[in-house]
Parts: sequence; structure tokens; C-alpha cells
Amino acid sequence: MTLYSNVLELIGNTPLVDISQLSPNPSVRIVAKLEGQNPGGSVKDRIALYMIEDAEKNGKLSSGSTILEPSSGNTGIGLAMIARAKNYSLNIVMPENVSRERRQALEAWGANIIDSPGSQGSNGAVRMAQRIAKENPEYVFLYQYGNPANPRAHFEGTGPEIYRDCPEVTHFVAGLGTSGTLIGVGSFLKSKNPDVKVWAIEPPSGEMVDGLRSLDDGYIPPIFVENNGSDLLDRRTIISPRESIEWLRKIASIGIFAGISSGAVMAGAARCAESISEGVVAVVFADGGWKYLSTGAWSDDIDLVVERAKSIIYF
Ligand SMILES: Cc1ncc(COP(=O)(O)O)c(C=O)c1O
Repeated sequence: MTLYSNVLELIGNTPLVDISQLSPNPSVRIVAKLEGQNPGGSVKDRIALYMIEDAEKNGKLSSGSTILEPSSGNTGIGLAMIARAKNYSLNIVMPENVSRERRQALEAWGANIIDSPGSQGSNGAVRMAQRIAKENPEYVFLYQYGNPANPRAHFEGTGPEIYRDCPEVTHFVAGLGTSGTLIGVGSFLKSKNPDVKVWAIEPPSGEMVDGLRSLDDGYIPPIFVENNGSDLLDRRTIISPRESIEWLRKIASIGIFAGISSGAVMAGAARCAESISEGVVAVVFADGGWKYLSTGAWSDDIDLVVERAKSIIYF
């Protein structure tokens, strides 16, 4: 056992678990990286730490600074945890219709929440934060959608960890939010084996799977453009909110309690496994299920869950 000197040392090095019993193809193994095991509860702890330490290194962030970020949830939580541990103030801009759990988690770590119009979703929060950043140049605007430290966290952390634990990986499947996970892990795995295929999971345009976005909705993250995301991705797969919930339940049936985007990613991994004759598919389960309990995703009538998810941003 290791004695850690602070909570930030617990970020990363998450477990990779064989979940091949969910594979629809007996010749295809599926392994899942359980990012919910990070101390803030999601994959976003990694990029929050990288973005903050990068800003410290280049002199943008120092004692007494205030950080500003529009967050669809997990990044806000990761930043709140790290900002608290490092004693920075944090302003989070987010849609007013987010779930109660989300607000409470941010408040637990002392973040200040700025509401953006619920009807404008996470794109509205991004626009509002950009305006606030312009009006308050003293704020440190980390902006996960355009910050190179985001894909770097995955190129130097998540990717090498997957390769270390499963060098035989042939396919990588992950959800697309900022695209940081896909760009960072995808380019690392391809640098080790150019034959590795990278699949992005997106919701249908105009529909919502918490944490994910459709590139067809009109916003392409700058990190996706700057890293030639279109060349890196071998496939973009659309998964509906209903399929996400169906697969979330199958994941739970083998004892893994993951968040809703993990259901979408698993649905994509199953499609991937069906489309190949043999191989090893690695997936990222971005967070645990705790924050989504009020969706009723595991137990309520599935039509009701899908309908409810349209009006509330859970994460
Ligand atoms: C729950 C969840 N899943 C998946 C993602 C996608 O990750 P990335 O932003 O690296 O594309 C996010 C990002 O916001 C998320 O919050």
C-alpha cells in the first residue's frame, strides 16, 4: 500500500476491468476503464488537474486568483475539488436546470455558481462564460474545449495506462464531449499501433446524453479542430438516449455502477464488437452512477426516464 500525501495524488491510475461477458461477439473482448474511481468521481479530474497545473506553470494562475469555467458538470466538480485543495476561488457557469446533486457537489467544495439560461443548454453556458471572461480579464479562463492541457492529460495519462494494462487493444471507444479523451487516448494508442481504430460516441443531433455532444449541433470544440479530430476518428457512432439507458442497465447487471454516458459508450462498443471478427475493444466509463440516481435510470419505466432526461440536465 502507498501512503499518499494529498488527495490530488489519487487522480488517474484507474482500474481496467474485463467486461467481455457483455460482448455480443465471443471473439471480441471488451475492457472498461472505470474513471468513476477518481477522487472527484470522474475522468474530468485528470484534465482539471492538468489545466490548473499548466496555468500555474505558465504564470497565469497564482495565489489569490479566481478561475472561471463553463462546465457540463464533471469538469466543474474536478476543478472545484482541486481549487479547494490548492486554495483558489472558482466561478462555474452552468445552466439553471441542472440537477440538485450537481449544485450540491459544487457547493460542497466551495465553488460559486453563476446560472445561465436553461433553455440554451451547455452551449449557452459556454457563451456566457466567454462574455464574463472578456469583461473580467483578471479571471483565469481555463476553457476545457480549447485548452491543449485537456487532450495532453489523456495522451500522458489515460492512454498510456490503457496500453500498459492491455497492450493488445485493437479498438478504442469513448464518448465525445470536449473530444479530449478521444484525441488524447486515440493519438497515444495509434502512436503505439497505427492499426488501432478509434470510435466516437455521440447522441443524435438535438438530443441529449449527459456529458456528450453531437458535432452536428453546430459547435466543434477547438481542440478537435486543432488536433485534426476528423482524421483521427475512424468512426462516429450515434447512440440514442434510450439505448444509453438500456446498456446502462446491462452494465449494472454485471455489478458496475456507471454514469449514463457509459451506457452510450457501451452500446457503441457492442456495435463495434458486432462489426469485427476478432479484437479487443477498450472503453472509457467516464463516471460513476451516483450523480444520476434521481433520473431513476436503473429502476423506473424506461419511457419515463427518457422523457425526464429531456427537461433536466443531470450532468
Ligand atoms: C459524463 C461524461 N462522459 C463523457 C464525457 C466526454 O469526455 P470528453 O470531454 O473528453 O470528450 C464527458 C465530458 O464532458 C462527461 O462529462
